[in-house]
Amino acid sequence: MALKSLSVVLLALATVSQINAFPQYGSLGGLEARQEEEATRGSTSTSGPRSRVPPPPPAPPRFTGAKLVDDRDHPWRPLRNGDIRGPCPGLNTLASHGYLPRDGVASPSDIIKAVQEGFNMETQTARFATYSAHILEGNLVTDLLSIGGKTSRTGPNPPPPATVAGISNHGSFEGDASLTRIDAFFGNHVAFNQPLFDQFVDFSNRFGNGFYNYTVGGELRFHRIQQSIETNPQFRIRGFRHFTAYAEAAFTANLFVDGRKTGADAHQLDMDSARSFFRDMRFPRGFFRPSSPTAGEGADIIFAAHPTQPGTNVGAVNNFVVDTSMGGLTDPCTFYVQFVNTTVRALYPNPTGVLRRNLIINLGFLYDSFAPPDCPQVFPYGQN
Ligand code: HEM
Ligand SMILES: *[C@@H]1O[C@H](CO)[C@@H](O)[C@H](O)[C@H]1NC(C)=O
Ligand SMILES: *[C@@H]1O[C@H](CO)[C@@H](O)[C@H](O)[C@H]1NC(C)=O
Repeated sequence: MALKSLSVVLLALATVSQINAFPQYGSLGGLEARQEEEATRGSTSTSGPRSRVPPPPPAPPRFTGAKLVDDRDHPWRPLRNGDIRGPCPGLNTLASHGYLPRDGVASPSDIIKAVQEGFNMETQTARFATYSAHILEGNLVTDLLSIGGKTSRTGPNPPPPATVAGISNHGSFEGDASLTRIDAFFGNHVAFNQPLFDQFVDFSNRFGNGFYNYTVGGELRFHRIQQSIETNPQFRIRGFRHFTAYAEAAFTANLFVDGRKTGADAHQLDMDSARSFFRDMRFPRGFFRPSSPTAGEGADIIFAAHPTQPGTNVGAVNNFVVDTSMGGLTDPCTFYVQFVNTTVRALYPNPTGVLRRNLIINLGFLYDSFAPPDCPQVFPYGQN
């Protein structure tokens, strides 16, 4: 049954699995190892970032309790010219406090470390979100990803149809029915949208007594989907996006709430803090991260309030057709297999050399972080 498999995957996402043994990688695809070692970010080389062997994900932090993260070493600073931000309030905040490079271009390891340090995001979820974003929209050769739009700062482009367009690129990770961003069909799908935030506040008043919690999330998540069905002829919520739409509605109640709140106050987000994260990309003054590693807990409650299947509006508004071919929240194995075998292969039909090797390595990291139950790994490019 759907909800049973949902709790299995949420449990998987909330459980730190054993350390995986990483396979040995063979040929460097013609690139000298020494050249790759030199290719660290910020080198004085005039040719920009160069190729790297993707390192294994950073180990989980040793201390995973609550602590002050709006601290002296991580002051909030306003954007400078050229700093990149995107659709994710979590990553935007981490960049504006210097947990991530303030320019908004980072390696997967930078991101995994930052979301754990700054938000106590649970390790496997941190890895899964990061490697999926990197495989879709990062530069796999230089090991750099933009937390917003496309930039030359991630290095030379691989051959199309690969996009390497940053996490803002609509239709890969970024998708429709966001809580505080409009659908790409209507315009800027990346920027904070005040009317949508007003709606977020309204729902929090009506269903959460002024706070956003899982009950509010269940109503607002459903309402945003209905709004898109009724107004966006190109609306889609399939596969990966079906999964993230529910996960992100849960992150909002889990990761943005001060870790000193316990008992009845836990998972109840006040509106000043919500505005601080979503609009200002800033920790509330003196914010403490959650008191234990946290991610998508409560997504099952949000989904169960008004279960909505994956699907798309086909050519017109109010023409939502269920489409489970790419999987979704309640079918994580199909979602994983289609992600790798359809979405990634469409971007990289025929990779060679370092690109192919790094794809294989990153797809391995992805599977190690996710591995839905009874779902064997897919190897579209071989194993080494
Ligand atoms: C681990 C790496 C992460 C990646 C790659 C990532 C990426 C993204 C992307 C691409 C979106 C846009 C999806 C959309 O609404 O269309 C998004 C939204 C979101 N992210 Fe993240 N994220 C990460 C970590 C986090 C963390 C640590 C938090 C919370 C502290 C967070 C909270 C959110 C929320 C609440 C949204 C929904 C925004 C909305 O619906 O208006 N994310 N993220
Ligand atoms: C959310 O807040 C409302 C109002 O206080 C409350 O009735 C409801 O039980 C809360 N939901 C959760 C999951 O805490
Ligand atoms: C992946 O796609 C190929 C070609 O479309 C197909 O032959 C293969 O069975 C698929 N693999 C899985 C695991 O679905």
